[in-house]
Amino acid sequence: MKLLSKSLFSERHRRLFALVRGNWLKLLLAMLFMLLMAGASSAIPFMIKPVVDDIFISKNATMLKVVPLAVILIYLVLGAAMYGQEYFLGWVGHDVIRQLRNSLYDKIQDLPISFFQAERTGTLMSRITNDVSIIKEMVSSAITGSIRDLFTIIGLTGVIFYRDWKSAIAALVVLPLAFYPIVRLGRRVRRVTTGTQEVRADLNSFLHETFAGNKIVKAFGMESYEKERFAAKTRKLFRLEMKAVKAKALSSPLMEFLGGVGVAFVIWYGGSKVIAGTSTPGTFFSFMGAVLMLYGPVKKLSKLNNTVQQGLAGVDRVFDILEQTSDIRDPACPVAIPGGPHRITFNDVYFQYDTKPILKGITLDVGPGDILALVGMSGGGKTSLVNLIPRFYDVTQGAILIDGIDIRAVAVSDLRQQIAIVTQDPILFNDTLRSNIAYGKPDATDAAIEAAARAAYAWDFIQKFPDKLGTNIGELGGRLSGGQKQRICIARALLKNAPILILDEATSSLDTESEALVQKALGNLMRGRTTFVIAHRLSTIGYAQRVVAIVDGEIVEQGTHEELLAAQGVYHKLYQMHFNGDDAV
Ligand SMILES: Nc1ncnc2c1ncn2[C@@H]1O[C@H](COP(=O)(O)OP(=O)(O)OP(=O)(O)O)[C@@H](O)[C@H]1O
Ligand SMILES: [Mg+2]
Repeated sequence: MKLLSKSLFSERHRRLFALVRGNWLKLLLAMLFMLLMAGASSAIPFMIKPVVDDIFISKNATMLKVVPLAVILIYLVLGAAMYGQEYFLGWVGHDVIRQLRNSLYDKIQDLPISFFQAERTGTLMSRITNDVSIIKEMVSSAITGSIRDLFTIIGLTGVIFYRDWKSAIAALVVLPLAFYPIVRLGRRVRRVTTGTQEVRADLNSFLHETFAGNKIVKAFGMESYEKERFAAKTRKLFRLEMKAVKAKALSSPLMEFLGGVGVAFVIWYGGSKVIAGTSTPGTFFSFMGAVLMLYGPVKKLSKLNNTVQQGLAGVDRVFDILEQTSDIRDPACPVAIPGGPHRITFNDVYFQYDTKPILKGITLDVGPGDILALVGMSGGGKTSLVNLIPRFYDVTQGAILIDGIDIRAVAVSDLRQQIAIVTQDPILFNDTLRSNIAYGKPDATDAAIEAAARAAYAWDFIQKFPDKLGTNIGELGGRLSGGQKQRICIARALLKNAPILILDEATSSLDTESEALVQKALGNLMRGRTTFVIAHRLSTIGYAQRVVAIVDGEIVEQGTHEELLAAQGVYHKLYQMHFNGDDAV
């Protein structure tokens, strides 16, 4: 019990209770019904005495009518109270779950990209589904359930004391003895639960990955390998669940035995009093009935500790996420960004993800409306460099300026409003073509969507779908071809019509026809915008005023395509390797 009360008062649990308290009216109603239930339950053994003494022994005819009617009434009240209690408790429990899920989702959405790279998608999903569920178990069936059981215990104990207080004291001595093992077992349940929740999360991640990447599983003939891996995980979960079952199951027989001892004592002690003539059979049976009925709620209360311990393990896992803080924050007094087009300046920028420096002293200045092409070997830091502009990550040293203002001095949303991005892999959602193109601009008119789709050279293929813009493209755009996906991403960026453009060109090669279409679409997209384009194709570089070659996080060369070719350096080498014969400017 001490363990329980100690953990109940931490900050996390206070926050959880705040959610419960928000439903105080429903909670109050539930408690009222519980009180009714407790009262009706206690009335049942109370009625045993008139049954035995007045009906059986005194043969009182009036009582023969009154008592059955009273019993019917008691059970009616009990039934109605049970329904009301279940309903309002369910309400409170499910509402807490809903609020927790929403705050978790809101929190996760607001956390920076680095968070998503550290956590696995399936694991995060598990926090919102599994962990929150065990908290609900705790809240609705336990915290509130305990009130009912507690009231019932109080009512029944009242009956016991009213009937024979001396025997009552003796019978209740065994109860505290039960608590020690219950608390011990509860602690064990909590520890095991943390383990099972971790394995469940891992299972979720695994499912997410192997279902989403099922094409590769099949292509490499890894079905049986994945089946074996999955079986190993469920085996591990099974073992842990069995540990919890063992700990939970142990508390029941323990309670059974202690209950049995109590009943045996009552029979011996109460029975001897009836034989001696100091008590009536009615008192004895009423007392005995209450003791037997007491046993149920006491057992529930002991199980409750297990449910609470399980729930607390969930609370820890949920609040671990809720208490995360984002390093990418708005300044206290954000500066407004003037109207575009914008100048972007990198001032001696250093950046690292962990300990290894990725960018080392990048200094760059891209004038309003200029197009800058970034080239370099794979892993050189190009994507990392452009990711700093919308503050997906913050620089480790130095600064990035937009029109002379440090990007950390403006509101993040304001900054991102200025930027349209086409990422290296096309990322689309399971929705219609219309919603995907209008992502970020939900109020865009069909005419605007069409114009963007036309400029992205996507309109022709959209027209070929039976549902046109209303076509659902499947999870991650799975029903579109590679080139079609890219063009939808370009249309999306076009519709956003932001003054800064970040273009991470896909390395995958397309057939010449869609390649040409994508190139034309990119040309439309870059026009008039301050553009950072990571170029893998010569035709893209052709649009740029300036080319910057990045090797190992440093700028090694910059100039026009012709100047760099003439310099016979890194760019020339890249050109020989990648672009030659591939493409024409
Ligand atoms: N989230 C991350 N955490 C830690 N290291 C990372 C992370 N993302 C990238 N890196 C490392 O940073 C370096 C630069 O990666 P980056 O993606 O910027 O290269 P790139 O120039 O865009 O390459 P490519 O042309 O292949 O796209 C690589 O060595 C990579 O391993
Ligand atoms: Mg890259």
